[in-house]
Amino acid sequence: MEPIKIAIQKSGRLNEDSLRILKDCGISIDNGRDQLKAAARDFPMEVLYLRNGDIPQYLRDGVVDIAIIGENVLFEKGKDIRVSVRLGFSKCRVSLALPKSVDYSEIGDLDGKRIATSYPNTVRHFLDKAGISADLHIINGSVEIAPNIGLADAICDIVSSGSTLFKNNLKEVEVLLQSEAVLAVSPKIGEEQEGILRQLQFRIESVLRARQ
Ligand code: PRP
Ligand code: MG
Repeated sequence: MEPIKIAIQKSGRLNEDSLRILKDCGISIDNGRDQLKAAARDFPMEVLYLRNGDIPQYLRDGVVDIAIIGENVLFEKGKDIRVSVRLGFSKCRVSLALPKSVDYSEIGDLDGKRIATSYPNTVRHFLDKAGISADLHIINGSVEIAPNIGLADAICDIVSSGSTLFKNNLKEVEVLLQSEAVLAVSPKIGEEQEGILRQLQFRIESVLRARQ
């Protein structure tokens, strides 16, 4: 039987908690540091360590069967992808923020402004709903620096503790969405792998119950 292929974030905030939940499910991964692929010892599973932003496409293409990923990434790049279970960790929000010194009363204040973000689809969706338009600058990291270097008037990024906003003299003005880690499923998953997924989901659900 082919093992189920799971994508896990290669490095970053999700990586550690993702491996921990698998471990709590009794699934240990032989984890060579620089290995991009690893097998589970006691469960029919193969782990692929991938970049967050690439995971929705890998799911769509069936390169992986399932993935542990943030809802924020699915909202941005994988709205078509099914979620099998919410995992309760890596909670954050995707928010718009402005320099503290700038007055803000409502979303219309952003009309015509320059917004730096790694989440262009999410921002556009939000602005379209509000009927306003802005000039989006797509950056892949350190987004919060943009207003300070004159690149943008506002930013949209993930907020977790709020410390990055604070350090960059920014204030959160709109919350676009709340997010947590989820188990996402490829539309191309095979029947045998669906069976393995059901076992995994059963284990995850009991781990989550025990954590409450
Ligand atoms: C993430 C995110 C925010 C920050 C939010 O950045 O892009 O900048 O964390 O967390 P906080 O509210 O707890 O400060 P990360 O540090 O992962 O780096 P990057 O943006 O350069 O990828
Ligand atoms: Mg950042």
